[in-house]
Amino acid sequence: MSNAIEIRDLTKSYGPRRGLTGLTLDIREGEVFGYLGPNGAGKSTTIRLLLDLIRPTSGAATVLGLDPRRDGVEMRRRTGYLAGDFVVDGRQRVRECLRFLGDLRGGVPRHRIDDLADRLGLDQGATIKSLSKGNRQKVGLVQAFMHTPELLILDEPTSGLDPLVQQTFLELVTEAAGNGQTVFMSSHIMDEVEAVADRLGILRDGTLVALDTVADLRAAATRRIEIGFAAPVSVDEFRTLPGLVEPSLDETGTVLRAGLTGTPDAVVKAAARHTVTALHTTEPHLDEIFHSHYTGTAAAPRPAA
Ligand SMILES: Nc1ncnc2c1ncn2[C@@H]1O[C@H](COP(=O)(O)OP(=O)(O)OP(=O)(O)O)[C@@H](O)[C@H]1O
Ligand SMILES: [Mg+2]
Repeated sequence: MSNAIEIRDLTKSYGPRRGLTGLTLDIREGEVFGYLGPNGAGKSTTIRLLLDLIRPTSGAATVLGLDPRRDGVEMRRRTGYLAGDFVVDGRQRVRECLRFLGDLRGGVPRHRIDDLADRLGLDQGATIKSLSKGNRQKVGLVQAFMHTPELLILDEPTSGLDPLVQQTFLELVTEAAGNGQTVFMSSHIMDEVEAVADRLGILRDGTLVALDTVADLRAAATRRIEIGFAAPVSVDEFRTLPGLVEPSLDETGTVLRAGLTGTPDAVVKAAARHTVTALHTTEPHLDEIFHSHYTGTAAAPRPAA
């Protein structure tokens, strides 16, 4: 499988400020990639570099095997882009605006525009200037998806959308992926990318701090385990077990609580020397992993339910 996007040591400095520092990243053909990070992390900077809207300080990227600078026209033809600050305005109606944008692309089937607009609940008879923020965003989504591009680059596509429309958007992404299209999307919201993304990258202060599948990010995180015993046990039995973090007993000495990384095999075998009355583990919420990467601190595990 080849890569839809290849980024090599890409750096963008805004004067003394770093927008992006030495980013190396491959986006595989056909994958849905979630690009996460707090405000100012460098997500839009990355996306603008890929589209040659700004130029790198150093490093390089290819998009669909093309050089964004040299082969910009072809790259744009084969890519759908939604800017984070997508702006559309004017007296014309949504229908005319979308047809115009479609014609700029050499024509887009009308039924495709109608279908997208209907699914997103966008009234094509409305004038652009009368649209609410969320409805303007829908215009942005339709223009990104309408020509069924090989690659979709979407900068915070769900900003301003209500939850129902967000859901429709996620269905469009899933369908695009089923269709073999590649989707690179930035977001602040872990839940939404988690639902559709094959892999996630987390950016902080211009640096990629995590890159993995949703499942592996979860597996690497600390879960909570709680074991109930019929009679008091000693915490010393559990202190050195691999994967167990900070085990402690409650005041009765019969409930063991700890963090757990990796498999529970060792702790289950150690517990089985006693009569076990209860066993709970809590899956880490991806938001916690996300927050730990955002702040640079380990996430505090939640108590087991
Ligand atoms: N044109 C510019 N001039 C100076 N600094 C800039 C410029 N554009 C971006 N920056 C800085 O680069 C850093 C990354 O900005 P960027 O817009 O890429 O972040 P982001 O991850 O998209 O954030 P957000 O979630 O708020 O959209 C920030 O510190 C920002 O202030
Ligand atoms: Mg941004």
